[in-house]
Amino acid sequence: MIRTAGRPANRLVVVSNRVTPPATDSTGSQGGLAVALAAALRQSRGIWFGWSGNQTSEFTGQLNIHRSQGVTTATIDLEERDVDEYYNGYANRTLWPLFHYRIDLTEYDRQFDAGYARVNRRFADTLLHIIEPDDIIWIHDYHLIPLARELRARGIQNRIGFFLHTPWPPVRLLTTMPSHKQLVKSLFDYDLVGFQTAEWMDTFTDYCVREGDGQIGVDGMVSAFGRTVRAGAFPIGIDADAFQKAARSPEARAMAKRMRTSIAGRAMIVGVDRLDYSKGLEERFIGYERFLADNPDELNRVFLLQIAPPSRNTIGSYQEIREKLEQLSGRINGAAAEVDWVPLRYVNRGYSRRELAGIYRSARVGLVTPLRDGMNLVAKEYVAAQDPADPGVLILSRFAGAALQMPEALLVNPYSTEEIADSIRQGLAMDKSQRIRRWETLAEGVAREDVTAWRRDFVAALESTPRS
Ligand code: G6P
Repeated sequence: MIRTAGRPANRLVVVSNRVTPPATDSTGSQGGLAVALAAALRQSRGIWFGWSGNQTSEFTGQLNIHRSQGVTTATIDLEERDVDEYYNGYANRTLWPLFHYRIDLTEYDRQFDAGYARVNRRFADTLLHIIEPDDIIWIHDYHLIPLARELRARGIQNRIGFFLHTPWPPVRLLTTMPSHKQLVKSLFDYDLVGFQTAEWMDTFTDYCVREGDGQIGVDGMVSAFGRTVRAGAFPIGIDADAFQKAARSPEARAMAKRMRTSIAGRAMIVGVDRLDYSKGLEERFIGYERFLADNPDELNRVFLLQIAPPSRNTIGSYQEIREKLEQLSGRINGAAAEVDWVPLRYVNRGYSRRELAGIYRSARVGLVTPLRDGMNLVAKEYVAAQDPADPGVLILSRFAGAALQMPEALLVNPYSTEEIADSIRQGLAMDKSQRIRRWETLAEGVAREDVTAWRRDFVAALESTPRS
């Protein structure tokens, strides 16, 4: 058992599939979520538990404990079959596409169900040795929906909260999944279930009413399947202060300088996304191609830098989207490039937060056009990184959770080639006073609704939820 002496408040136990210990280097490579959780874990002397990312031939349940900069992480290795059936299978070939409205890509396979259930049991068995009676347990994302049920079955009576980072799908899509009722019912073993936006929360309660004979009570209480849980919307933010600092760091300045030389007086449009079919990259490339065709005067005066680090690359749908993008970028550049200019720079690697901050700041337009996204933090980072005296323009998909908080962006329908093309034109042509006016409101929202506020609101709601 891991014991922590003399703690002032309830200890926080965070559980997620991926665990990011605090970075020990100075590249600023750690994401805002990890920074915010690390702050809370440090204050409460908590623990962050999850998968190590390693595969072994046999599951041992051996805990790898790591302490870095006041944060304790505890991880377990998974066996190859677990990674296949749970991570690559149920999590990323069933739930991820389904929750992003892509039932055309969703695969249902009982082996995946079994692997998902097994890994959630393994997480619960291991957590039993970590959890103490007063701990607050906060479980993250679609990989671990049934974890509270498994913990309750093992006698855990602590407060347990769940936060879904992705959208929640409409009832007509969710019911295509053979085990949908079992999955949703297991959410009722939590005390609090959090969504990114009121929209995803509404689609969840809609499901409960229609499929679980449910009722909506006051203060987010939802009753269905003969049980009650509290639901709420908690839009996640970025660590805006840290990101602004990152934008002024030597690494960011060096990158901005490098970009200025390379931009050579043209206008840069930037996109930064994990290489995922939910991000609308194909539609974005086609929209940009259309913009070039509609605006021949812009040839050689603008370019799109798309950074897209590959992701989940053993899964067929990810290999397919990668191939499509390679073809499309070849087509766009082949048709329009000149000896001294390429319209599209397509980069398949990641950059540190500080380097990204420098890149965002150099871009006249930030192009964030997912087909469906729980929130989208690139939109917020793009805003936070801008120069207040000469900010760029954010083009944002109306289907990203962030659109609800960011109406001053140019909101677009990412499925419409014409809308993407027109919004690029509009963004590039926007005069400085309008850019500043829109940016000030956006930046104020990004700073106010930051990741610390998100974490504080969620934990406070969990602590105040009556235990049934
Ligand atoms: C999304 C999910 C996260 C996940 C991340 C990266 O943001 O909501 O839970 O960690 O993608 O995906 P990966 O499969 O590499 O962890």
